[in-house]
Amino acid sequence: MTDGTSNGAYRAAYDESLADPDAFWGRAAEAIDWITPPPRVLDDDRPPFYRWFTGGTLNTCFNALDRHVAAGRGEQAALHYDSPVTGTHETYTYAALLDRVATFAGALASLGVEKGDRVIVYMPMVPEAVVAMLACARLGAVHSVVFGGFAPAELAARIEDAKPTVIVSASCGIEPTRVVEYKPMLDAALDRSSHKPESVIVLQREQARAAVGERDTDWEELDWDELVADAVPADCVEVAATDPLYVLYTSGTTGRPKGIVRDNGGHAVALRWSMENVYGIGPGDTWFTASDVGWVVGHSYIVYAPLLTGATSVLYEGKPVGTPDASAFWRIIEDHGVKAMFTAPTAYRAIRREDPEGRLIAEHDLSSLETVFLAGERLDPDTWEWATEHLGVPVVDNWWQTETGWPIASNLRGLEPMPIKAGSPTVPAPGYAVHVLDEQGHRVPAGTEGAICLKLPMPPGTLPTLWGDDERYVAGYLSAFEGYYLTGDGGLVDEDGYLYVMGRTDDVLNVAGHRLSTGSIEAALAGHDAVAECAVIGVADDFKGQVPRGLVVLRSGVDAAVDGGRIRAELVQRVRDEVGAVASLRQVDIVSALPKTRSGKILRKTMREIADGRTPVVPGTIEDATVLETLTPVLRPTT
Ligand code: COA
Ligand code: AMP
Repeated sequence: MTDGTSNGAYRAAYDESLADPDAFWGRAAEAIDWITPPPRVLDDDRPPFYRWFTGGTLNTCFNALDRHVAAGRGEQAALHYDSPVTGTHETYTYAALLDRVATFAGALASLGVEKGDRVIVYMPMVPEAVVAMLACARLGAVHSVVFGGFAPAELAARIEDAKPTVIVSASCGIEPTRVVEYKPMLDAALDRSSHKPESVIVLQREQARAAVGERDTDWEELDWDELVADAVPADCVEVAATDPLYVLYTSGTTGRPKGIVRDNGGHAVALRWSMENVYGIGPGDTWFTASDVGWVVGHSYIVYAPLLTGATSVLYEGKPVGTPDASAFWRIIEDHGVKAMFTAPTAYRAIRREDPEGRLIAEHDLSSLETVFLAGERLDPDTWEWATEHLGVPVVDNWWQTETGWPIASNLRGLEPMPIKAGSPTVPAPGYAVHVLDEQGHRVPAGTEGAICLKLPMPPGTLPTLWGDDERYVAGYLSAFEGYYLTGDGGLVDEDGYLYVMGRTDDVLNVAGHRLSTGSIEAALAGHDAVAECAVIGVADDFKGQVPRGLVVLRSGVDAAVDGGRIRAELVQRVRDEVGAVASLRQVDIVSALPKTRSGKILRKTMREIADGRTPVVPGTIEDATVLETLTPVLRPTT
C-alpha cells in the first residue's frame, strides 16, 4: 500500500517494519525489561504460526508495576478509580497497586494457581478487576476476563473452554438504573458448565452482598477480603515471551466464542510502542479510556498499555450519560488533567443526543486535552464532525479488533500526525501489511471495495492462535486467502493510501461498540418451546451503530394470533437472561418462513440489506424467492 501524505517518520517506520521486522521490533523491544533478552525477533519457523521474541523471558506484571516503582515512580498515580455510580474517587499509586497485586497474587498462589493455569475474572469496573488481571500476570497464570454484562450462557461457554482453576468475581455491578447481582449469574453458569473450578473468590460490594460459602459445592467459595488478609505477597514468575498472558473470548458468527490468545512478549512490546507512537502518551501522562475491562479496549488501553508505559490510567465506573449527565467525560478530563481519551463513537453519539450544542463541554476546563481517540465501531463522519467542532482537538479514528490487540490503522499521533479525513482511520500502523482483496484473492485498485486482509506475518501483540484450537484459527482466519489473515471487515483504500472500513462482511454484530454473535442470540431464541426456526440479523441504528433483530418461525400448532405477543416478550426476555441485556434485542418478528439457499443456509446478509434499505443481493441458489418477497414488508415496513 502506498501513502501519498507521508515522506517522514511514518513512512520510514512503516517501510522498515515490513522490510526488516527484526530491526524494527528488535528496537521496540528495548523498551521492555527482559529477564532473558530475546535472541530472536520474528520466529517464522512454522508458518502460518508466527511467534515473536522466541527464547526471551520476562514478566508482564514486573514491566507494568515493579520496574516503575524501582525507577522512582512509586508515588505517581497508576490508577484513578472514578466511580460516579458509587460516589467513589480513589487514587492508587504505582507502589500501592504493586502492593495489592503482589498480595492478591499470593492469595491466588495459596489456592494452587500456578504458571499456565487459567483464572476467569468476571467483574465490574472496580480496581480489584485490574488487581486480579495483574496478579495472574505476576504468577504467569492466564487470565480470562468475561464482560460483566454477559449472562450465564455466555459465561458458561467461557468457563467450559478455559477450564479455570479459580474464578474471581464480585457481588454486583452497578448500572445507572439497577444493581446487577453477579453471584446468581455465576452460580447459574457453573450449573451449566461441566468444568468446575477449585475455588471461587467473591469481592463483596455493599450495594448488594452475595451469599458466599453457604451452599454445598465441590469448589470452595471465598471472600476476597478474608483471603487477602492472610496472604503472603508473591514475586514475579519468569515466563517465556511466547507463553500466554491472557485469553479473551470474542464473538464469531456461531454461538461458540473464540478464545483469542495473547502472548507475553509480543504484547508488551507492541502495546508499549503503540502508547507512545499511536496515542502520543508517555511516562507520567494521564490517559482515560472509557470502555470496560471485559473488552479488548479495556485490556489494552485501560490496563496494560498505560501501565507498561508508566502513565496514569483512569478507571471509570460509569456511563457517558446518566451518571449523572452528559458532562461526565468532561468532568473527568478536568479533574484528572487527562491528556488524551479513548472511547467508542456510540458514547459520543449518546453525549451529543443529550447535549447537541455542547453546552456542558463549554462549562469545563479541557485545556489538558490534546486528542480524542475513537474505536470499536465505524466512526460516522457526522459524529466525527460534531466532536471535532465542539472539543477543538483532533478526533482520531482507529481501527482494530480483539484479535490484533492494538490498532491496525490509525493516525499515528506520536509518530507523525497526518491530515484527518472523516470516515477513515487513516493509514496502517507499522507491522500491518493491509491489502484489500477481491473474491479471487487479487488486490483491488484504489477506491474499490473488497475484503480487508492482513498479509502474514502480523506484527507482535496480535493473536498467535485460538486457545487450544489451532485448527479453528487456520480455518476461521487464514484459509480464505493463502498467506493472509481475514479481518472480517470490508472496505477500501483511497488514492492517498487512506483506509476506509465499511463494516463486517460476516454475521458478527457490533452493538454500541460491543461485539456480539448472531449465533448466541439465535441459540437463546431457539431454546424457546414455541420456536421452530430463527435468525438474527444486525440492522443499522443511528445511536448504537447496529442493533439485532430476531425473526422466528413458530412450531406448528402454536397460534401466533393468540400467543404472538406473549411469545415475543418471552423471547426478548430470554435473550436478556441468556446472553445479557447488552445484546439490546428489542424487536422479534414472527414470520411464516425464513429465506434459505437450496443447501439450507439462511440468507441473513440479504435480509440485512433489505432491513437497511439497500438493494439486496439475492443469490441464485435461493430455494424459494417468494419467502423473501413475503418478508420484505416485515423487514422494511416503509416499503
Ligand atoms: N453489566 C450489566 N448490564 C450491562 C452492562 C454491564 N457491564 N453494560 C451494559 N449493560 C446493560 C445496560 O444496563 C442496558 O440495559 P437495559 O436494556 O436494561 O437498559 C443494556 O445492557 C444495553 O446496554 P448498552 O448497549 O450499553 O446501552 P445503554 O443505553 O445502557 O448505553 C451507551 C449506551 C452508549 C451509553 C453505552 O453503550 C456506552 O457507554 N458505550 C460505550 C461503548 C463501549 O464502552 N464500548 C466498548 C468497546 S470500546
Ligand atoms: P472488537 O473485536 O470487539 O474490538 O470488534 C472488532 C470489530 O469492530 C472490527 O472487526 C470492526 O468491524 C469493528 N471496528 C472496530 N473499530 C472500528 C473502526 N475504527 N472503524 C470501523 N469498524 C471498527
